[in-house]
Parts: sequence; C-alpha cells; structure tokens
Amino acid sequence: MSLQIKTLDEYRQVYTRSVADPEGFWAEQAAEFQWKKPWKQVLKWNFREPRIKWFLGGKLNITENCLDRHLEKRGKQVALIWEPNDPSKKARKITYKQLYAQVCQFANALKAQGVKKGDRVCIYMPMTPELSVALLACARIGAIHSVVFAGFSAVSLADRIKDAHATVVLTSDYNARGAKNIPVKTVVDEALGLGCDTVKTVIVHQNTGDPVKMMEGRDIWWHDAIKGKRKSCKATTMDSEDMLFILYTSGSTGKPKGVVHTHGGYMVYTDFTFRNVFQYQEGDVYWCTADIGWITGHSYILYGPLLAGATTMMFEGVPTYPDAGRFWDVIQRHKVNIFYTAPTAIRALMAAGDQWINNRRMPSLRVLGTVGEPINEEAWHWYNEKVGKKRCPIVDTWWQTETGGILISPIADVTPTKPCFATLPLPGVQPCLVDASGKEITGNDVEGMLCIKFPWPSILRTTYGDHERCRTNYFAAFKNLYFTGDGARRDADGYYRIIGRVDDVINVSGHRIGTAEVEDAINKTPGVVESAVVGFPHDIKGQGIYAYVIVNDRLEDAAAFRQKVVDTVTKQIGPIAKPDKIQIVSGLPKTRSGKIMRRILRKVAEGDTSNLGDISTLLNPEVVEEIKVGASRV
Ligand code: WT7
Repeated sequence: MSLQIKTLDEYRQVYTRSVADPEGFWAEQAAEFQWKKPWKQVLKWNFREPRIKWFLGGKLNITENCLDRHLEKRGKQVALIWEPNDPSKKARKITYKQLYAQVCQFANALKAQGVKKGDRVCIYMPMTPELSVALLACARIGAIHSVVFAGFSAVSLADRIKDAHATVVLTSDYNARGAKNIPVKTVVDEALGLGCDTVKTVIVHQNTGDPVKMMEGRDIWWHDAIKGKRKSCKATTMDSEDMLFILYTSGSTGKPKGVVHTHGGYMVYTDFTFRNVFQYQEGDVYWCTADIGWITGHSYILYGPLLAGATTMMFEGVPTYPDAGRFWDVIQRHKVNIFYTAPTAIRALMAAGDQWINNRRMPSLRVLGTVGEPINEEAWHWYNEKVGKKRCPIVDTWWQTETGGILISPIADVTPTKPCFATLPLPGVQPCLVDASGKEITGNDVEGMLCIKFPWPSILRTTYGDHERCRTNYFAAFKNLYFTGDGARRDADGYYRIIGRVDDVINVSGHRIGTAEVEDAINKTPGVVESAVVGFPHDIKGQGIYAYVIVNDRLEDAAAFRQKVVDTVTKQIGPIAKPDKIQIVSGLPKTRSGKIMRRILRKVAEGDTSNLGDISTLLNPEVVEEIKVGASRV
C-alpha cells in the first residue's frame, strides 16, 4: 500500500528514516508502481559534475502508471474534468478508460508522423484536454515533450524550439482566455518563420474553430492526424533515466534553460508528494488552477494526480472571467475537495471585494494549497477565513521547476501550519541554510541561502544541451550542495519561511523572469543605449518589473517611447514580462569595474531612498541623485 502519512509523529518517524536510509525509503515508494524491469541500484550520485541517477537499470513507462494501471479498478472513474473558459459551455468529463484511448490514439498519430523515441516535440497549446493528451502521448512513445506556455511570444517560442531541436510542434487554432481569443497558431507560424529548420510537422487542434491558415505539407489537423488510428498503443520501454520532458525556465543570466526530468524518479516523487501533501482521498475532486505550461501543471495537474488515480480538473479560463466569483462557482459546481492556487490569484480576488465570496457555501473544500511565490500575511488570512472558513489547512508548498515536485510544505492535517511558512521538509528532502561563504548555518532562528544536501528522486538531471550550465547554475555556488536561488529563514520551531530570490530573478505573479532577459529585450527597442531591470513590491503581482533605461537622444515623446519599450518586450518575451514602470535616466550607478549597482536601483524602485549605503565608491555617484528625483515622477 502506498504510504500516506497521517500524524505528526508518523511524519517525524518517516522523515528520520528517509534521511537515515534514503535508498531503502525510496525503493519502498517505487515498489508501488508497474515496472517493466526492476532497477538494479536505487541511487548513484555526485553533486560535483553533477551526475544523479535514480532506480538505475529500471525499465518503465510513466503513462502505464498513469493510465493502464488504473483501468481495471477505475476505468469508469473520471480522470479529467475540463472546465471551459465560457461558463455557459458544458464541462467535459473524461474517464480513465477514455483518456487511455485518446492518449493511445494520439500516440499512434505521432508515430504515423514519424515521431520516434528520443525526438523532441514542442507543445504550444491552451488549456484544453488535448493538451494533456499531447503530453501523455509523447511520453507513451518515448518522445520528449517540451511545453511552452501559450502566453510566450513567437520569438521566445522559436528560441525554445531551436534549443531543443524539436521536429514537431503541437498547437491549437485559438486560445480562449477570458474575453480574448488569442491566435495561437499564428504565433507558431511566426516562430517557424524565425529559422526553426528542424520542424517538419505542425499538428493543429481545432479548439475554437475560428479560421486559421494551414501550410500545405507542414500543417495537419489533429482530427485528421488521429483518423483511423487505433485506440491502443504499446507503451515504449523507457529507462528510468531516459528523458521525460524539457521545461524552460529563467535564471539570472542569459536565455532560459531547458530543465530536464526523467521517467523513473519524477514518477515516484510526484506521486508520493501529491498523495501526501494534499492528503488525496479516493473519490476526491482535485483542482490546481495552474497552466500546464509551467511545472506546477506538469506535476500537479497531470502526472501526480493521474499516478495517484485521482480526478483532476483543468480550467481553460482566468479567475476574473466572467467575474471575480468564477473560482467559487467552479468549486461549488464540481464539488472540489482540494484546491491549489497561487498567491497572485488570491490577492487579485481579495482586491475585487468580498462580495464575490461572501455568502458562498463551499462545503466540499477540505484542503487549500498555495504555490509559486511567498504569500503575504493578509492574503494567507483571507484564504484561510474567506475560502477555507477556517476549517481547511493551507499547504504553502515551496518548490521549483528544477525540483520537479514539492520539497518543503506542510502535510495537510498533519503539520501544524503557520501563516506564510512552508514549514518542514518532506521525507527525503534535506534542506540547509548557508552564508555567503558557503558555511552551513546551524541552529534555529536563523536566516540564509537555501540549499539542499542530498538528491531526491525528481531533482533535475541536466539543462538540455548544456550540462555545464546546469553545474554552474545549481551546483557550483556551494560545494556539494544544490543551490535553490532562494533566501529563507528557519524559525525557533525549525519551520522554513521562504523570503524570495537572492539572485537576479524576479517573481511576477508567480512567474519567474530573469532580469537579464528583460534587459536584452528592452535593449532591442530603437533608441535604447542600456537598461537595468529590478523587481519592486506590487500589491497584486507580488513583484512588478521596474526598468531603468538610458536613451541615446533627447526624447520628444516619453509616453510613446515607453509604449515602444513595452511593445518590444511583449514581442521578445510575452506580455508577462512587460515592465510596470519605466524610468528614463542619463546613467546607471556603476562600480569602478563597470558593474551595475542593483542594490541601489532596487532600493529606489522600492521607494526607499533613506539609506542607500555608501555610494562614494561609485564611478558616477552623481547619477544617484538624478535617479532618486526621477523615480518620484515615474
Ligand atoms: C521559485 C520557483 C514550483 C512551482 C511554481 C514556480 C518561488 C515557489 C514558493 C512558495 C515562496 C515560492 C521561489 C522558487 N516559490 N513556491 N511556496 N513560497 N516562494 O516554479 O517558476 O520554477 O519558480 O518560485 O522563489 O525559487 P518556478
């Protein structure tokens, strides 16, 4: 029987055991799955290269564990509920048996298009059931999926297609989001016009049915691709360490990198954490509001829940359409038991006013979750009181694209919660705090940079096509530690509170955005000489983007110029990276070696200019005064 921790004592026992004997512990968890061939060794690792392998020699296919394994017992159970953007449209319910058939049929369609084991398939689709089918169909035949969030621009999409050398792109005609109808297929066309020479085929799902242009010889409709294809498909035998997917994420330098996860470890870890953190019970309806374009969607809309045999919901729309009561409507209608969302959504709904939630009865709710960014106290209490009516535990789950699954989080109804605390590490997770010199900070009531000492099954294996980048990004800062990029505090009870990124990454509405990426984009605007981007506190988004920009000529029309900057960023990255504030400056504070002093820029952006520290060593201290004065007018 799969382990589900039920008491705090049991958690402590299991945790102690998982650290004393990680291999024994994870071997027991892994034994619950269908393996085509058992593993020979549980773990081999070093953080130096890094080289991390779990369940060595084991053969499996994750989709057999998501689908086939459940058919006998729950073939008729709903696997997927799809709630469309338009509330007057009927939700779609897909049973495990139906999902199995759809995945197999589309897997056969991919094969017929020449997709083979190891090929990269880029998926750029809105939140429709076919998106889930697409990921699973790739996994079924051993193709590596690379999902790109359908809000990214053509330029970003092209970068990701090229980096992965994808041969096929899966897309839809349009993306219905709120009142918008976004032409997704057009974005793909544009991206493929930017030199994605490896792409031979585009399969287009007809979602809204509005007209699109199809390119002869390259584009094929989804419904044509599956025509006459069999609804069973033998799952390709994969090694535990074969790649399952690539997911691009931003870092502090350069372009986004492709984080790689593999079949075996990812399966074991997402299943274990899903069942334990949310205390999933047989028959529960589970709803995670994320998009499958992010890791949260991969691990906790799709793989984790399906591995556990759960009923998981996909929502096509946005929290405020047609009004700010939509989430609560959906929870009531589908009798949702477990609800998992992001602080930014909670803050937006809180700001919309309590009239949308007052007088709502949502008795089905049992567990609430939050993810993606630090939750502020006010939002935590509102979530607890208004949504959970003070009777649902809130699991504040901390993790990352690179970790594959949740690492630090309460276990619902087991770990006593504390507002804004991710609390304790899950079994098998060994966090520590270090100071700038890499020395471990022991004891409690301390603060430092959050690292992990020991591998867990779903730790990233590499960054696609550039292993050295993986090493320098995560394993080089501190010897023998995985560095998360986050700062954290450990309080007197040993509880962890995540403070936020300590690197040049901004967390906007739970989306990770590299400052370097935004600067590169801004610099492509005609007239821009140089730019520097920092985050600043934002009521709804958590952090907003503040850009300091040097222009080469006197500006005629500052408003028009700002719009150009915004448009350029939208074109290069996507609307999620649009700067909220743009300040035109004559210079940027720099050290004598030419490094931008971001600390000063951050302080000014935060509106706190009282103590900027010592600026006398700057190359250009005079610019600081100008920036301070200018900031008040942005
Ligand atoms: C970064 C990872 C993993 C899910 C979605 C984001 C921040 C994530 C929390 C939390 C405070 C959090 C961290 C982390 N973060 N969860 N519960 N409390 N901060 O994945 O895009 O890879 O971003 O999100 O800063 O490093 P991601």
